[in-house]
Amino acid sequence: MANLSTTYMGLKLKNPIIASSSGLTNSVKDIIALEEKGVAAVVTKSLFEEEIILETEENLNRMHASGFVYPETSEYFDFDRMEDTVSNYLKFLSDSKKSVKIPIIASINCVTSEGWTDFTKRIEDTGVDGLELNIFSLPVNFSDANASNDQVYSDIIGKITNVSKLPISLKIGFYHTNLGYFIKHISHSPTKAIVLFNRFYNPDFDIYTLQFTSSHVLSTPAEGAMSLRWVAVMANRVSCDLSASTGIHDGPAVIKQLLAGAKTVQLCSTLYRNGNNQIGLILNELEKWMKENDYSTIDEFRGKMSQSKTFDPKVFERVQFMKYMRNMD
Ligand SMILES: Cc1cc2nc3c(=O)[nH]c(=O)nc-3n(C[C@H](O)[C@H](O)[C@H](O)COP(=O)(O)O)c2cc1C
Repeated sequence: MANLSTTYMGLKLKNPIIASSSGLTNSVKDIIALEEKGVAAVVTKSLFEEEIILETEENLNRMHASGFVYPETSEYFDFDRMEDTVSNYLKFLSDSKKSVKIPIIASINCVTSEGWTDFTKRIEDTGVDGLELNIFSLPVNFSDANASNDQVYSDIIGKITNVSKLPISLKIGFYHTNLGYFIKHISHSPTKAIVLFNRFYNPDFDIYTLQFTSSHVLSTPAEGAMSLRWVAVMANRVSCDLSASTGIHDGPAVIKQLLAGAKTVQLCSTLYRNGNNQIGLILNELEKWMKENDYSTIDEFRGKMSQSKTFDPKVFERVQFMKYMRNMD
């Protein structure tokens, strides 16, 4: 039998499949169901930085006074129940940890390094195995050519590691100047893993009502190309693990990400579309492919198709592009 085990963020996983943060990982019951279907770890639904900061009335008043709470966003938060939200989340984490054997990775969606990072200690006290930070930082300063949001990543990591020993992973988007340099830069210790990539919520609007709507909440398999490219480019060039995310829907997509160099693969849209049985199908396909190709462990083939293993990356990409364009007509 093929051995599917792997390590990730210093954790031992029975296979490379992780249920990524979403509404499917928002209750103990759902996490138990995911474990039963075979996932090796779960990233819980995110708690928002704003929810942590606004836990106390004192902070809430201070933030209103300083203008941090925008009228546009305040309607989305039920300030009276904020304290419950945070204590419920902590209880959910410790209950989840007690209910399953697989590692539980908590998740925080944040935009700044101010006012919330000490909270990580309370997350660590729940007994969870790691923390994934979804840093939602879009480059929207159009008046400064050198403006960069990149510093916030190092600031957050620095502050968190002052108060907690939890292994930290960073879930990032691809809107960065010099993406490869940025990924390499943030991969240094103490970051244990980088998740490539977060899929941003895509805004849309109704042409008759002119109201904003949500569009394409779930990904398509075609979206997996972006993650596959960057996992392949960065594998063996970073100082931490890489986890692939976005557009990974079936067994071949998982195998490709491992061949590109990913340590783990995160699933979300495919579980919404196909249900949790998809996990077993993917694991069977992975095992079958490993047997057919005489691999007994994942390490025997991980990264075989990464860019660093090709003879000359620049020439390789150019040749593939030329071949493709010639065959178009
Ligand atoms: C309904 C829904 C809720 C989500 N909630 C979160 C969240 O709380 N935190 C987070 O980091 N990502 C969240 N995500 C993003 C997923 O974790 C994942 O990164 C994204 O859907 C891309 O993966 P996929 O192509 O497998 O869907 C959510 C996605 C969906 C569809």
